[in-house]
Formats: sequence, C-alpha cells, structure tokens
Amino acid sequence: MSNIEQTLSIIKPDAVERNLDNEIKKIFQKNGFRILKEKKLKLEKTEAEQFYKVHETKPFYNDLCTYLSSGTIVVMILEKENAIKSNRDLMGATDPAKAEEGTLRKLFGKSIDKNSVHGSDSPDNAKIEIDFFFKD
Ligand code: CMP
Repeated sequence: MSNIEQTLSIIKPDAVERNLDNEIKKIFQKNGFRILKEKKLKLEKTEAEQFYKVHETKPFYNDLCTYLSSGTIVVMILEKENAIKSNRDLMGATDPAKAEEGTLRKLFGKSIDKNSVHGSDSPDNAKIEIDFFFKD
C-alpha cells in the first residue's frame, strides 16, 4: 500500500554559510523527494528553543538552540513515499563521524552540532515541525 508522507527538512547554518543549500536540494530531488514548500530565514533564539522543545532536558539543549539561531537556515516540506524514514536514511547518523558513506551528514557535516541537516523523526513530529514553519 502506498504511504506518501511529508517531512520537515532543515538545512542548518553550517551548510547554508558554505553555500551548500542548492547542492543539498538537488540531492533530495535526485533521491525522489519533491520540495513542496521552502523558505530561507533566520530564527530568534526563543524560536529555536520552541522548535527543539523535545530536547529541553538534554545537556546540549542550550548550545543546540544557540547554534540553530546563529545563521540563515533553509526549511522545506519534502514529500515522498515513506519520506520520514527515507530522509533519515539519506541524512545518516546524527554524528557525521558515525554516518554512513554517501549520506548528507557524512558528505557535509562538520560535527554532531554542525551536522548540516535536520529531519523529522516521526509522523507526529513531522506534523508539529511543518506547522511550526508553514502554518499560515
Ligand atoms: P537534529 O537531528 O537537528 O536534532 C537534535 C540535534 O541535537 C541533533 O540533530 C544534533 O545536531 C544535536 N546534538 C548535539 N549533541 C547531541 C547529542 N549528544 N546527541 C544527539 N544530538 C545532539
């Protein structure tokens, strides 16, 4: 049975500042993702805190929010069959040092913080994250 899903993707500040956003978008499209909506923006720290609220008890929460709000990001709604898992597979492990060959984080990530891309990890979070950036 078909399972077309939408997921939220973020190209993080480390990748945008190296002008990798177009190259990363092309890789998504080559892998069958349709980019339904996209925008380029810079978050306030308080907005990053809200976006990453699921991580608020983690020791890395403050640094993570400082980082995500440190520069321009590109946010996209991606659509594909099983888009959530497919995007996570394409991104690779959170830590680029552990990411598989050919994955986005292996190709472009600099560190566990500067890991170039974010993708929703479940259907519930995909809906929450898409609404966060694209609810009109
Ligand atoms: P992301 O997929 O955007 O979701 C949360 C982010 O926290 C993650 O990518 C990493 O960039 C960042 N992070 C920093 N330290 C850790 C850690 N120890 N474990 C998991 N994620 C971390």
